[in-house]
Amino acid sequence: MAEFVEVARVDDVPPSTVTVVHAGAVELALVNVDGTFYAVGNECPHRGGFLGEGEINFDWHQWALECPLHASVFDVRTGEVLNPPAREVVRTYEVSVDQGIVRVAID
Ligand code: FES
Repeated sequence: MAEFVEVARVDDVPPSTVTVVHAGAVELALVNVDGTFYAVGNECPHRGGFLGEGEINFDWHQWALECPLHASVFDVRTGEVLNPPAREVVRTYEVSVDQGIVRVAID
């Protein structure tokens, strides 16, 4: 059963930014999309770029995260690839926010 693990405070991740966080041994990219938080695996399924070191690509959407290595773009809400070269989705994780604390569900 999934367990929610504290990964950040809301104030740590301003709107329209992404950061790397850790939930136990799992490394994640945590994204703030206009006050709603999303978490995806930090490792790009193309060649392992760190998505948490990428940027939101507003040319696509406010929820579009661009890999810093070869510019694949992912929908952080679903993990779907919006722009290659990546072909595989990136895993998404359930997020909860309560009293300024962001938690992510880990298996
Ligand atoms: S490693 Fe992410 S696009 Fe290549």
